[in-house]
Amino acid sequence: MKLTRKDWVRLLLLWLGGIDLRLTMLAVPPLIPQIHHDLHLDEKGVGALVSLPVLLLATAAPSAAGDVAAGRRKALACQACHGLDGLSKLPDAPHLAGQPEGYLVKSLDEYRKGVRKNELMTLVVKDLSDQDIADLASYYSAIEISAQPPK
Ligand code: HEC
Repeated sequence: MKLTRKDWVRLLLLWLGGIDLRLTMLAVPPLIPQIHHDLHLDEKGVGALVSLPVLLLATAAPSAAGDVAAGRRKALACQACHGLDGLSKLPDAPHLAGQPEGYLVKSLDEYRKGVRKNELMTLVVKDLSDQDIADLASYYSAIEISAQPPK
């Protein structure tokens, strides 16, 4: 198997995101011989490379399993700004509909930790538990969206 530039970018993104270990674990093992070959790594090097996502995950956002129905109920607290349909109701609030679940979890966790700051969101997330965040992220990511780029 030959790794294309696209494969490398995908791998890099998976590692950098550290978002979904399951995906990374699926993507990486079949590629190990190739990574080995492409990077001229010895066994130790390959080991280090493959354990990177695990290390990243250890510092990554909480990973409770989300419940869509519970998320929908909790999203009542978000609807004034983000809409229950996930389409923004304020000029400076982003759409949440269909955003990747891992990204939503990460964003909410970062507001909660103060890594990412915003007057409104910092107040909103103050009392959210890991479970609330997981539920809200599953709900908003489950909203189906379609896009029509301008011609
Ligand atoms: C009073 C308005 C308001 C409410 C209520 C509110 N938000 Fe926000 N939210 C914002 C604004 C404004 C931003 C953009 C902040 C920034 O620039 O970082 C934002 C950003 C976010 C982001 C980052 C999205 C991205 O694309 O990076 C997430 C996720 C989010 N809100 C989730 C929620 C959830 C879940 C709730 C309900 C529990 C909620 N918000 C309630 C105003 C609000």
